[in-house]
Amino acid sequence: MKDYTLLQRKYLVNTYVNRGLTIVEGEGVYLRDASGEPYLDLMTNYGVNIFGHGHPVLTARLINQVRKLTTLHGSFANDQRAEAAQKLVGRCGGGLSQVFFSNSGAEANEAALKFAVLATGKKKFVACRNGYHGKTLGALSATDGRKFREAFEPLLWNFTVIDYNNLSALETALSDETAAFIVEPVQGEGGILLPDAGYLGHAGELCRSRRALLILDEVQTGTGRTGYFLASHPEGLFYDIVTLGKGLGGGIPIGATIVSQNIAERIPRSSHTSTFGGNPLAASGILGALEILDEALLAHVREIGGYFLENLLKIRSDLIVQVRGRGLMLGLEVKARRDEILKELQKEKILAIPAGDNVVRFLPPYIIEKDHLDWALEKIGGVFSALSPS
Ligand SMILES: Cc1ncc(COP(=O)(O)O)c(C=O)c1O
Repeated sequence: MKDYTLLQRKYLVNTYVNRGLTIVEGEGVYLRDASGEPYLDLMTNYGVNIFGHGHPVLTARLINQVRKLTTLHGSFANDQRAEAAQKLVGRCGGGLSQVFFSNSGAEANEAALKFAVLATGKKKFVACRNGYHGKTLGALSATDGRKFREAFEPLLWNFTVIDYNNLSALETALSDETAAFIVEPVQGEGGILLPDAGYLGHAGELCRSRRALLILDEVQTGTGRTGYFLASHPEGLFYDIVTLGKGLGGGIPIGATIVSQNIAERIPRSSHTSTFGGNPLAASGILGALEILDEALLAHVREIGGYFLENLLKIRSDLIVQVRGRGLMLGLEVKARRDEILKELQKEKILAIPAGDNVVRFLPPYIIEKDHLDWALEKIGGVFSALSPS
């Protein structure tokens, strides 16, 4: 059998960690290696394949659209794109009224930052420690972390970095020159870090008092991940700008920057465009995703996520510092040996991913059931017992 790990290492720029595993297909909650061995997918490609792999409704839509039309520049209208935008705005609510489509989470944030400059005429921003917004230069300016930024500094504009979940730090950092505060409703890459209830609402009020915008980066938390279409929905916010990506296209690359009318009106023609942005194939993925992601499935995410969290909390090990999360966005913080734990889980045919410096992150597909999790929980418990026998 060909060694694709080797081939990939030879011919691709090696910016990624090597998991030493070749995946060639997926079905439901499982991914399969080249020999057909199944792995329980508790990471969904960093939160993308929210309905698992090969969902029949989504697959049928995408195949149908591939036959009809895959790309079409935004200067032409298209049925899939127009309806995807209309339905997405409807699902977001909170005063959001227009969408800019791109192709990734980082691009969604690039657009958000540019739109904030265009709408306010200001170029200063506030972002959070441990925040992650992507690695293109604009998004990277808002992303925290020496290892990501050091080689590229100075980055764009003027970003003040403050502690997450700290309203008085935000109040101090905001000035009349601030264009926007960019923040995640739950910090994902930073380590599944949860703010206090009401944090986002108060942050929004503080921003309004300084005529700054609030950019909510829901790339990881959005499209149902925490059991609500937007993680911020329970807070009943009135939004300026929300960014989405990851699972929004049901597995097809997508980014979306959704803005209020006020902001949309201040964005001039040609100020921001993308050849692939809002292509009919990705738009049909959005329509499929919005159709599948109904209230019943969101309720399932809340319930099954609660079950997973409750049972992860029962695992006893000296290595575990804390288990936390919302819906199907869960993190298990350990004192040490995080990467070893991920490797051992992989040996047990469970795929999880890292977050922050010491967190094992689980982002399972929304179709996961108790049986899958019971099987996984036994294996996870076994890995911890083997690594730190009590
Ligand atoms: C909150 C958040 N914003 C932005 C991004 C960047 O998305 P992408 O990798 O699609 O550019 C990510 C990716 O993990 C993310 O979690």
